Amino acid sequence: MPKPVRKAVFPVAGMGTRFLPATKANPKEMLTVVDKPLIQYAAEEAVAAGCDQLIFVTSSSKRAIEDHFDKSYELEALLLQKQKTKLLEIVQSVLPKGVNCVYIRQAEALGLGHAVLCAKDVVGDEPFAVILADDLIDDNNTGCLSQMSNLYNERGCSVLGVENVDPQDTAKYGIVSSKPISDRVSKLEAIVEKPEPADAPSNLGVVGRYILSPRIFNMLENTPSGAGNEIQLTDAIATLLDYEHVLAYEFDGKRYDCGDKLGYLKATVEYGLKHEGLGEDFKEYLRSYCTPEALE
Ligand code: G1P
Repeated sequence: MPKPVRKAVFPVAGMGTRFLPATKANPKEMLTVVDKPLIQYAAEEAVAAGCDQLIFVTSSSKRAIEDHFDKSYELEALLLQKQKTKLLEIVQSVLPKGVNCVYIRQAEALGLGHAVLCAKDVVGDEPFAVILADDLIDDNNTGCLSQMSNLYNERGCSVLGVENVDPQDTAKYGIVSSKPISDRVSKLEAIVEKPEPADAPSNLGVVGRYILSPRIFNMLENTPSGAGNEIQLTDAIATLLDYEHVLAYEFDGKRYDCGDKLGYLKATVEYGLKHEGLGEDFKEYLRSYCTPEALE
C-alpha cells in the first residue's frame, strides 16, 4: 500500500487579474459561490479525500484566507449568546477538527511550479495533492480528489485530473497525450503547457487537481522558466515522466472555471439551483425572469 495522501497544497498567491476590480483587495479564492468562498469548496474536497494538513502558498493581500480558516472567538461567542446554533455549527465546521493549516509566503510570482516548490519542506517525503481553487468541481457524491486518491492508492503513482477541453482552448491548459489503460484512466506519454491548437498533442486538458509524488520537487528545483516566463508545474511533470509513471484521470463531475467571469456565473446559477435552502425559490425566480424578452 503506498503512503496515503495527507497533505494538500493550495497555490493561492495569484493576483486574480481577470476579476479586477473585485480582486484588488480581496483574494480571488475568497469569491463566493452562493454562500461559500471558492477556497472552502477546495478545502472541503481535500478533507473529504483524507487530507488533514492544508498548505496554503500565499502572498500579500491574502490575509482573508487565513482569517477564514482561523477560529473567530468573537463571532462564535455572539452566535452562542443569540442561540443561533445552526449558524454556529456552520462557522465551526469551516475547519473540521483534526485538520490543520500551514501558510507559506511565495515572495515572488514566479509561476505555479515555483508556488508548489515553496511547499517542499512542509510536504517532505510524501505524496501530496495540489488543488487550484478556481477550478470548482461539482461531483456525483465522490469528490474529484477522492476519486483520484482512490486511483493513487491502487496504483501508487502520480495522478493528474484531466478532461476534454474545447480544441480551440488548448492554449489555456496543460495538454497531455496518453495511452488508455482502463475506463477514465490513461498513462501519460507527454505533457505540454498551453500549446496553440495547431501544436496540441490532444484536447485532453489538465484541470486544477494533481496528486504528485515528492520526486516532483527535485524536478521543480531544476525546471527553468517556461511558458509565460514562469516556472511551470507542467514542465516538471514532463521531466518526472523520465523516472516514474504518471496517470491521467478523467474525473466524474463537472468543472467550472471560476477564474473566468462566465464560468463563475455558470457556477453561481447552477449551485444556486441546487442549494438546499435556496434552490426552489431561485428556480421560481429564474422561471419568471427568463422570458424570451429578457433573454433577447
Ligand atoms: C494552470 C496550469 C495548467 C492547467 C490549469 C488548470 O494554469 O499551469 O497546466 O491546465 O492551471 O486550471 P493557469 O490556469 O493557472 O494559467
